[in-house]
Amino acid sequence: MDPDQQKIQRFQEKVFSFYHENKRQFPWRETTDRYAVMVSEVMLQQTQAERVVKKYLVWLDRFPDIRSLAGASLKEVLSYWSGLGYNARGQRLHRCAKIIVDDYAAEVPFASEELIRLPGIGVYTSRSIPIFADNLDIATVDTNIRRIYIHELGLPETIRPGELLAVAEKILPHGKSRDWHNALMDYGALCLTGKKTGIRPLTRQSKFKGSRRWFRGRIVKELVGADAMFLEELTVRYGEQVVAVLAELEEEGLVERLPGKEDSGLCFRIPE
Ligand code: ADE
Repeated sequence: MDPDQQKIQRFQEKVFSFYHENKRQFPWRETTDRYAVMVSEVMLQQTQAERVVKKYLVWLDRFPDIRSLAGASLKEVLSYWSGLGYNARGQRLHRCAKIIVDDYAAEVPFASEELIRLPGIGVYTSRSIPIFADNLDIATVDTNIRRIYIHELGLPETIRPGELLAVAEKILPHGKSRDWHNALMDYGALCLTGKKTGIRPLTRQSKFKGSRRWFRGRIVKELVGADAMFLEELTVRYGEQVVAVLAELEEEGLVERLPGKEDSGLCFRIPE
């Protein structure tokens, strides 16, 4: 399974030479601030890089550090998240900020073992933060990087994530972790696309319009734009399914019920 040394070296040279010619400029590539890198990596989890750029810059203008984010209301945080999709990700980032201020003296942790314990930070992001912020000599694998390794090294598509990470660790050029991962990202986005390889991602996004995720997004957007809304108004706009969607959002803390309005019907808002 292990690709031999020569193959590794040729692969590294190919990816780096592509990068030197085709490197993309992104604002998060110009910072080593761990908080800013964390924001970019969470925004980039399921949203295309080009769409993230403007949101990232506006976000950092309003929330330049972890304390400013931790001190903001969820409603304001979600208003800045608007357009990125998956509001729960914005909510989790907000929760991360509060935990980091309270438990880590407002310093985003350096160790992936600590980062992975935070809400919304999975294996990929817990490693990508110290890679991009600190040039830490570890590897990480997202959908694009997985596709490159499978294609270039002739690995089976069924390779387990843990096994693939071990291959990635072996290939990592030491001392160049930040550049290497940026280079892989650009090689995957510009050269070795999913279309070209036919390698399918492990999770596929389902049809969006009319999906549960679409209803969730619509309802959060309505509530971000209003002080509060009656269930009846939302039901008229989106049908009976809003009841189940609101229950889910309430359970997750994205939405709360306004007390004492039972006579005029249930009323919901985003927590202040
Ligand atoms: N996706 C996740 N991290 C990224 C990065 N640093 N550059 C481009 N796309 C990314």
